[in-house]
Amino acid sequence: MSDAQLNLFGGLDATPEVSESTGKDLIPTSAAIPIAPGTYNSIDELAAHCGVCQRCVLGSTRLNPVVGRGAIKAPVMVVGEGPGQNEDEQGLPFVGRSGQLLEKILASVELSVAKEVYICNVVRCRPPDNRVPTPEEIAACKPYLLEQIRLVDPKVILLTGATALKALTGYKGAISKVRGEWIEWEGRLCMPIFHPAYLLRNSSKEEGAPKWLMWQDIQKVKAKLAEFA
Ligand code: URA
Repeated sequence: MSDAQLNLFGGLDATPEVSESTGKDLIPTSAAIPIAPGTYNSIDELAAHCGVCQRCVLGSTRLNPVVGRGAIKAPVMVVGEGPGQNEDEQGLPFVGRSGQLLEKILASVELSVAKEVYICNVVRCRPPDNRVPTPEEIAACKPYLLEQIRLVDPKVILLTGATALKALTGYKGAISKVRGEWIEWEGRLCMPIFHPAYLLRNSSKEEGAPKWLMWQDIQKVKAKLAEFA
């Protein structure tokens, strides 16, 4: 990879370098160089860039970039933290146990991932050993998330867990303090919810338990969508 990658954004080198895989100008390898809003015309274009992305160290250890799955024009967007092993292997978000639970939660209010939900993550490449992505990795990947939000244009965004909440809105507090509350971010309606992995570790369905709270939250989401219908 060379500085010629900067050419996509009118950068330093006069000779554009073209990616063999995408046939388009390459993306900046340095996360210090922004990817401007409006860069991509489609999720497919964005995904092609993610396939050659080296904006952070996660690019060197991923098996596959994990961009998103579900309906491309979806009323509901779910943002998770980052791919795990299953996701890295399959190149799709939330395909392991957390994903199965997430789909069950959505299905409980008749939201189908194929028709009404788009699922993605804060980072598109698996952090080794499933660690939390670093602030540098999150910053490097954030333009892709912002572009996905712009292209999908959801009515509501569900932020699963503290990493997604902080990455998008900057809120650093505990998820338990704000889950289930509507937050306005950049003119969009967002709701922080528990991460499904947290629910897998807390199986009680007693009133007030995390699973019970999730049930309240997802019903609130369904009610909000009905207001838009
Ligand atoms: N957890 C996440 O946050 N994202 C995934 O894609 C899978 C598990």
